[in-house]
Amino acid sequence: MVYTHASLSESMRLYPPVPVDGKQAADDDVLPDGTVIKKGMRVSYHPYAMGRSEKLWGSNWAEFRPERWLEMRDAAAGKWSFVARDPYTYPVFQAGPRICLGKDMAFLQMKRVVSGVLRRFKVVPAFEEGVKPVFMAHLTSKMKGGFPVRIEERAESF
Ligand code: HEM
Repeated sequence: MVYTHASLSESMRLYPPVPVDGKQAADDDVLPDGTVIKKGMRVSYHPYAMGRSEKLWGSNWAEFRPERWLEMRDAAAGKWSFVARDPYTYPVFQAGPRICLGKDMAFLQMKRVVSGVLRRFKVVPAFEEGVKPVFMAHLTSKMKGGFPVRIEERAESF
């Protein structure tokens, strides 16, 4: 479950379900970096771009590496702990007082589906040779044409 949590976090770093999110200033304001915002101005933050920032994630930002979310807790027992990043670095669920209220519920549901499905089936991507999936950024993220897969029943469940 710890590794699954890290894998889901890593998937959403590269492919955030809400790729960009915007706000409109109710009053004049100044951002922490000194940027002046006037009443009515729109500001957006970009989890998709932030998840691919070398400054935030290092030179291996393009690699899918769930291990970047893990820390060895007990080497003798081979136990790992999940190390969360602060929500301002990883704003996939937004940050601050209006952070997503369903974050824990969403992780629980995703882990439930992953464990329930993968226990019995292999989910094999079914793209034709050489075809690469195309990411589409709408209000929420999509994949052009969906995600064709082949479901293979496992000989033995684990
Ligand atoms: C992977 C799944 C999810 C992602 C990436 C996600 C992401 C977000 C984001 C970015 C916001 C901020 C929207 C904004 O104010 O501009 C938000 C708000 C919210 N989310 Fe989620 N969400 C997810 C699943 C869920 C689930 C499963 C629930 C309910 C069980 C939920 C309930 C809420 C609620 C109530 C808010 C509004 C919070 C507020 O404005 O105070 N979310 N979510």
